[in-house]
Amino acid sequence: MKGLWLVGIAAATRMVPLPQLPPQTEDLEQWLHSHIHHTQANDGWAAYQRRVLDWCAPFWRPEIVSDYDVLLDRDLWEAWSHHPPRFGNFTFVLLPWHHIVELHGFRRHAPGLNYAPLRDAAALFSKLSPHYPHVVVLSQADRRQILVMERRAGGATAREAHTPGSLSVATPLSDALSKVAVRFTTRLESLARLSAGKRPDPHDVPLPLLFRASREVNASSQERIHRIFFRGSCTSKLRNRLARDVVATATLAVDVGRCGQGGKSKYPDYAENLRKSLFVLAPRGSYPATFMLGEAVQAGALAVYVYEAHMIRGKRLGGKRVKGGFRRAPAADETHLTHAAIEAQLPYANLGLRWGDVGAVATDDEIEALPARLAALAAADVRRRLRTTAWVRPLFTANGARLYVELVLSSLATAGARKPFYDDS
Ligand SMILES: *[C@@H]1O[C@H](CO)[C@@H](O)[C@H](O)[C@H]1NC(C)=O
Ligand SMILES: *[C@@H]1O[C@H](CO)[C@@H](O)[C@H](O)[C@H]1NC(C)=O
Repeated sequence: MKGLWLVGIAAATRMVPLPQLPPQTEDLEQWLHSHIHHTQANDGWAAYQRRVLDWCAPFWRPEIVSDYDVLLDRDLWEAWSHHPPRFGNFTFVLLPWHHIVELHGFRRHAPGLNYAPLRDAAALFSKLSPHYPHVVVLSQADRRQILVMERRAGGATAREAHTPGSLSVATPLSDALSKVAVRFTTRLESLARLSAGKRPDPHDVPLPLLFRASREVNASSQERIHRIFFRGSCTSKLRNRLARDVVATATLAVDVGRCGQGGKSKYPDYAENLRKSLFVLAPRGSYPATFMLGEAVQAGALAVYVYEAHMIRGKRLGGKRVKGGFRRAPAADETHLTHAAIEAQLPYANLGLRWGDVGAVATDDEIEALPARLAALAAADVRRRLRTTAWVRPLFTANGARLYVELVLSSLATAGARKPFYDDS
């Protein structure tokens, strides 16, 4: 018998100085702009920010980012590296994290393994001034993964130096990141923390996992097929069950493909399906976040975020593969997150956005009942959610995510804060 520990009240919910979303009669993008105030001052900040960006520049060279240069962080780099906006003394450290951590060190198995960008990033952080609060955007990367990579890199160094078995491996990059004032995160790691019985880290501010603007899915206002749609890879245990367990009802069709079979390889087809479907399943992947959340909102579909407690693919994180490669994180069995607790950690919750108003939230144990639940929504309720989805769309584009980062930093600076703070801390 599973013991259920109900995490009712989500820790760290409302970032105090952030304005809350206006009524939907207001244009969201204009509203974002109207709340962004740049700091004017003639002191050492500009020179320091310039120096830090110059240190970042070599990481964007083609040898590092040529592969898969499609993420939001590229747009941020292009927008900010020449004219960095100023909010208080917040200083941007803009790096292509996914390339540094995953594509060079993580996915590329030996002999191509290359930890040099990871070490160069650690060297960059060791040069940062303790007098300025720093800001990072961890686009498709997270601190836990960086720690794992750093340990692996340290172990490899120890093996090369013929000193195996050395237990204390230096992790300078993870250590430095834990001290960064504001970390915009894209993998919803706070959900993983809650599932493991820990509190979210207040320095982490969630952003949706997004591709850069050139990959944006256009919205559609055409009549939608009354169906649940899913295509995706098998990056979580939950995804393996969807094709079997999501069954059509009398009034709601399903087009739920088996994971791993025909997904985003044909991106235009995939995008067209998002544009045609009423509901799009956005189940967690290897990490709690998924690109599908933003893609569905961009297309104008109701995104159903499905969460499952921390279930990781052993091999990909360096552990042993058991039972299809997935293993549960400690304490995940005992933890059951309520919808409210999940919603509180989703992107833009701290602006007052509730996912239940945009699409829907479900957990892995609710999968079988999900079609009936969605089919039972009143037509007026569905229309309201479609309108809300269309209204919040700017926040789920690269441009809107950039404005949100600026809004957060502007609000913190206006409040005289050097790091995020919440109403319960
Ligand atoms: C920024 O740092 C400078 C020192 O470089 C300091 O004099 C100034 O007061 C700080 N400004 C803000 C807005 O925190
Ligand atoms: C999206 O819309 C824009 C302008 O409306 C158009 O130029 C572009 O080709 C569209 N993209 C896709 C993938 O359909």
